[in-house]
Amino acid sequence: MPKETVLEFQNVSFSYNETANVKDLNVKIKEGDFVAVIGSNGAGKSTFSKLCNGLLKPTSGDVLVTGLNTKKEKVSNLAERIGFLFQNPDRQICCQTVAEEIAFSLKNNGIPEDEIKLRVENTIKEFGFKADVEPFNMSRGQRQRLCLACLIALNPKILILDEPTTGLDYKECMEMMNRIKELNKSGTTVIMVCHDMEIVLDFARQVIVMNRGEILASGRTREILCDNELLSKARLLQPQIAATCTLLGSDYKDVFTVDEMIARIKELKGKK
Ligand SMILES: Nc1ncnc2c1ncn2[C@@H]1O[C@H](COP(=O)(O)OP(=O)(O)OP(=O)(O)O)[C@@H](O)[C@H]1O
Ligand SMILES: [Mg+2]
Repeated sequence: MPKETVLEFQNVSFSYNETANVKDLNVKIKEGDFVAVIGSNGAGKSTFSKLCNGLLKPTSGDVLVTGLNTKKEKVSNLAERIGFLFQNPDRQICCQTVAEEIAFSLKNNGIPEDEIKLRVENTIKEFGFKADVEPFNMSRGQRQRLCLACLIALNPKILILDEPTTGLDYKECMEMMNRIKELNKSGTTVIMVCHDMEIVLDFARQVIVMNRGEILASGRTREILCDNELLSKARLLQPQIAATCTLLGSDYKDVFTVDEMIARIKELKGKK
């Protein structure tokens, strides 16, 4: 069965002031996709993600979330369908304890009290949090995890993550990404703004490249990340392994990860 389109941008432009900050965006994202949005600073990635969930409304054009036009729907109504992790977790946190924080968005979305209690308990257990801890006494990485936990408790169809791994150490980053990968495997559509090309390569199946408010290209991750000309136009660098393999020449074509590099070296040695 063909997959349903869960998010669509139709000729979307948006301006904070007089000039357009994003221009003529056309995007179709299907159910279960894992899409990375890449681009240099100021390219329009956060603006794009806020347009996805109705926090910003298009100046012209339309954004459809599971068929609902964000111009006509309340943000709270969209929040059930589309969860949003801010670039800075501290913009999201507003309660005195971890338990209250998780319950907050569930209450806002009209979930019944009994169900809220159950979901809060389960989420705390799953993430290994302590219910009574004050969020602002937690580390930045833990606050980021708390924000993700709040979104997961809502169980939305689509997740938008604006740089979910910024400020995390390697272990926290991998934990975060593996949890997101699991969610995607179980059917959640993931749209992730990310500066780290290695993470994009390891986790995203599709990539949207933004530059100066426009979409330069979109396509399969490996095809995009081996297109050096496109990446330099977007003022981006290739992942290190891919860049090294480009320098090494055709013997190392299509090698993108350390494991693939090791396998190719062994293969080439075997031929000698
Ligand atoms: N609240 C705002 N008011 C006015 N201009 C803004 C506002 N937020 C962003 N902009 C401008 O809109 C453009 C796109 O910004 P945006 O934050 O979407 O970029 P970004 O790709 O997320 O950048 P970064 O990688 O630094 O997070 C930039 O020129 C930025 O200066
Ligand atoms: Mg941003």
